Amino acid sequence: MTIGGGMDASEGKAWFTQDRFGMFIHFGLYALAARHEWVQHREEISPADYRKYFENFDPDLYDPREWARRAREAGMKYVVLTAKHHEGFCLWDSKHTDYKATNTPYGKDLLKAYVEAYRAEGLKVGFYYSLIDWHHPEFPIDGIHPLRNHPDALEMNKSRDVRKYAEYMRNQVTELLTDFGEISVIWFDFSYPKRDYRGMPGKGRNDWESEELVGLVRKLQPNIIVGDRLDLPTDGNFPKDLATPEQYTPRVAPTVNGKPVRWEVCHTFSGSWGYHRDETTWKDAAQLINILVDTVSLGGNLLMNVGPTARGTFDARANKALETYGEWMRLNSRSIYGAGPSEYVAPTGCKFTQRGNRLYLHIQTWPFRHIHIEGLGRKVKYAQFLHDASEVHWLDPDADVDSNIGVAVGNGMLTLELPVLKPDVVSPVVELILKD
Ligand code: GLC
Repeated sequence: MTIGGGMDASEGKAWFTQDRFGMFIHFGLYALAARHEWVQHREEISPADYRKYFENFDPDLYDPREWARRAREAGMKYVVLTAKHHEGFCLWDSKHTDYKATNTPYGKDLLKAYVEAYRAEGLKVGFYYSLIDWHHPEFPIDGIHPLRNHPDALEMNKSRDVRKYAEYMRNQVTELLTDFGEISVIWFDFSYPKRDYRGMPGKGRNDWESEELVGLVRKLQPNIIVGDRLDLPTDGNFPKDLATPEQYTPRVAPTVNGKPVRWEVCHTFSGSWGYHRDETTWKDAAQLINILVDTVSLGGNLLMNVGPTARGTFDARANKALETYGEWMRLNSRSIYGAGPSEYVAPTGCKFTQRGNRLYLHIQTWPFRHIHIEGLGRKVKYAQFLHDASEVHWLDPDADVDSNIGVAVGNGMLTLELPVLKPDVVSPVVELILKD
């Protein structure tokens, strides 16, 4: 299928829809505040006051090999880490700023170790790079900046030059895409050109100089997949490479100008991207699994986020959520990797994914004894549960089947016979092997 700008295979991007499931990591100074990665914005903390997190940044237990192992065991195939988030703090030893991990008590480059560790586990590596920067002195204050309500904000903006900031971004992106080997994904976050606030305009492609930035990215890493938050026109020189719906399941697959587009939905375990100690809205096992299933059934990828603690660890809640994925993927990943939407319509309470002649019925709401599927009655060669490869029977669509269950003879309905007891699997999957 042609997606976005060209053929996946010829662009070296085919891995993406094959892999389906990745890990997002939000790690920065906000992990110390432990109350959302937007804490500086929310609490209007000045750069001077925010400095305490920089001065105390010391993730002494940081072991990216452990992160990478946990990602692989969860069934994740690629990873995207915040090299810089909105706070402006850089995890690598950038030549273009002092505001970086190497100048904190921790004293080391976190990004090099990250890249090596994830590659060693066989995962593809990506970076998130924030367009927004609440620390850089040339970044004009705007409606989401922590200093937005400062009485002298407009005055301060007179000496801030967004062109210098755009150049800083290009310099940093050059480092990120030159010094760390092959980078598979880059996420730029985000644009808000229409958000004016007290005479301070929002920011978009003219501020970031987005076309130039993407041109640079394409030159440095021709195969990289570029996120779509740069405010680029969809009919320009840089067609949308990756649509990025956030924290919701799209009702239908996103399109651009009526055409399919590569897409990836990103989600959190508990609402916050950065580590949030007191956040309690952690998704349960069924929600975690169903988010993945729903996404793949629509043809998208899932990038699921972990916010490590300021010690550099995944906390117990995050590990538990990752293990939920791991357990499920160990038995059911055949219905995810390389799978996508099906032309068949899933019955109520179920979703379909499909790969070739393997049609996967994800049973999200366990029924009593039967599931009826239109149009499939004579097309199935064999059916089994994925988790234990146990055979699943179906009623003969051409015989006089039990009229109590309302299946008319000869209507081509597939009626699966299921155990009364739901197997001990979140969202059990029936693999339907279709006739050729
Ligand atoms: C938003 C937020 C941000 C997070 C991102 C992930 O744009 O600003 O904190 O990194 O979404 O998609």
